[in-house]
Amino acid sequence: MTQPLETALYAAREGGAIIARYFHDGVTMRTKGTSADLVSDADVNSERRIVQVIRDAFPDHCVMGEEEHSGDENAEHLWIIDPLDGTTNFAHHLPHFAVSIGYYHKGVAQCGVVWNPIRDDLYIAERGRGATHNGRTLRVGQQKLMSEALIGVGFYYDRGAMMEATLAAIGDCFRQQIHGVRRFGTASLDLAQVACGSYGAYFEYQLSPWDFAAGQLILEEAGGRVTTCSGAPMPLQKTSILASNGALHDQMLSIVGRHLQAAQPTK
Ligand code: IPD
Ligand code: CA
Ligand code: CA
Repeated sequence: MTQPLETALYAAREGGAIIARYFHDGVTMRTKGTSADLVSDADVNSERRIVQVIRDAFPDHCVMGEEEHSGDENAEHLWIIDPLDGTTNFAHHLPHFAVSIGYYHKGVAQCGVVWNPIRDDLYIAERGRGATHNGRTLRVGQQKLMSEALIGVGFYYDRGAMMEATLAAIGDCFRQQIHGVRRFGTASLDLAQVACGSYGAYFEYQLSPWDFAAGQLILEEAGGRVTTCSGAPMPLQKTSILASNGALHDQMLSIVGRHLQAAQPTK
């Protein structure tokens, strides 16, 4: 195991232990930009501890974290952290959330860790070495037709055009006779669910790098494909995302791409 992966694992365990403690003991939630965008001491203190672990191991590396670290996307060594992905679930006491940590060298993901500390679900990937879930190798599903697939979706914190575009795309998916749509509320775990074959595809019209930095590598190492909703390579910036088992990518692209222009955030 490389030193970055060892560090990512230790940092994820430390951050995860903090959010698990707050989850069990209770914590006051506050709002960020909108009334639906929540944050708490769990998010902030998890990020602080994760960054401390990374800085102890790699004092020169740059850090981008959702809460307090604005990190330069062009840094040679870049750590991208979501200290609590799935905050809305956390706030409503649904045990479906995770710590997400990705390490990038010269803009290329090298390793990623996603850990749900309540269910003890650990997803790991190393570039060129595959991805695992609790030690078992991950492989995407074999669904070739929309009519064989379960589709994951996410809604950004938007209650306007982007939400409407997402609903319109879901409608188009249903018209392709998909098995169903799921919205579990944690992007890093949504990507992991494509990686393990549960979802044929997952899309969302806006995510931030910390939402997908680790999950993208986990899915790609499991044989999947990740692009923006227009089919472009993912930038390390706010972006739309389409993640799939590969076989369903073009079929999904024609649906999510159709509504992309209408999907402008209202904040
Ligand atoms: C959110 C979750 C959610 C997704 C949102 C993200 P947060 O992250 O990943 O599933 O739909 O777009 O912002 O705010 O819980 O860290
Ligand atoms: Ca997130
Ligand atoms: Ca978060």
